[in-house]
Amino acid sequence: MKAEILSLLRESTDYISGQELCERFGVSRTAVWKAVNQLKKEGYEIRAVSNKGYKLIQEPDILSENEIKSRLQTKWAGNRICYFDLTDSTNQQARLLAEQGAEHGTVVVADRQTAGRGRRGRQWDSPPGTNIYFTLLLRPEFHPSKASMLTILMALAVAKGIEETGVEGVSIKWPNDVLLNGRKVCGILTEMSAEPDGINHVVIGTGINTGPYTFPEELQDKATAIANETGRKVNRAELLQKVLQQFETVYEEFCRIGNLSYLIADYEKRLVNKDREVKVLDPKGEYAATAKGITENGELVVIDESGEERQIYAGEVSVRGIYGYV
Ligand code: BTN
Repeated sequence: MKAEILSLLRESTDYISGQELCERFGVSRTAVWKAVNQLKKEGYEIRAVSNKGYKLIQEPDILSENEIKSRLQTKWAGNRICYFDLTDSTNQQARLLAEQGAEHGTVVVADRQTAGRGRRGRQWDSPPGTNIYFTLLLRPEFHPSKASMLTILMALAVAKGIEETGVEGVSIKWPNDVLLNGRKVCGILTEMSAEPDGINHVVIGTGINTGPYTFPEELQDKATAIANETGRKVNRAELLQKVLQQFETVYEEFCRIGNLSYLIADYEKRLVNKDREVKVLDPKGEYAATAKGITENGELVVIDESGEERQIYAGEVSVRGIYGYV
């Protein structure tokens, strides 16, 4: 009920009477009063005026279950929210929940991680009070070979979600880094548990630097945060809601069609590598090439120096921009 009260208060520009809230939820005045008091304790500034009712004055920038649920309009993404003030890694927690049978669409989110994991065994810096660290648990019915495409879907969902908050300059570095003004603002780590013929579960861990945040010196020219670039803080729960909504939409289309063909244009529009020189880090030997776009299976299409077209599979090779990070 707290999430519903919150969402009603948020939508209303005027006071909402206690009576109206009681009727709406079929509870007593005391129950409403208690819920409002709990919200106040969580940091919401709610004004209560006798004969008028309640009005939301200010919201804290928090990622609690109530805050997220009060904004969500998805069908299944985020149906269950597991929020931690502090945890080791949301991917790790999502994996444990998956093993206990947690359902498709469960989201694990944390304000701070002590063992945030990046790709290639790197750590993911996860300070509190800023940034979003979340993991979406999926139980797809498609073949495990398609799982790497989920990361592409999430990258697009994050890019679109950030854009929806009014931020410009968002791009994607294939396969799944989201950049803002050319520097990394989001990383995605997808992990899967599968049998040869089917997926048990996939967890898509996503870290979005909302900031403001001062990066360690060695990261300063590679990484950035939204507030660092725009000078304004985005509400984290609002951005997470937008990303989950975007993901649900692209995921459902992906399941219906069976490949990424429908989003190639949308993805390539933001693809920072497009028509630029890249260095392909192939274990069989590095080579220089020009990136052209992606295939319906999410491979990067490049033209090598002999003019031959090649398709690069994300799991096998990675790509470095020849000039700087991109
Ligand atoms: C990368 O190296 O680019 C991937 C970074 C992924 C970080 C996120 S933060 C939420 C989730 N939990 C983790 O431990 N890692 C991912």
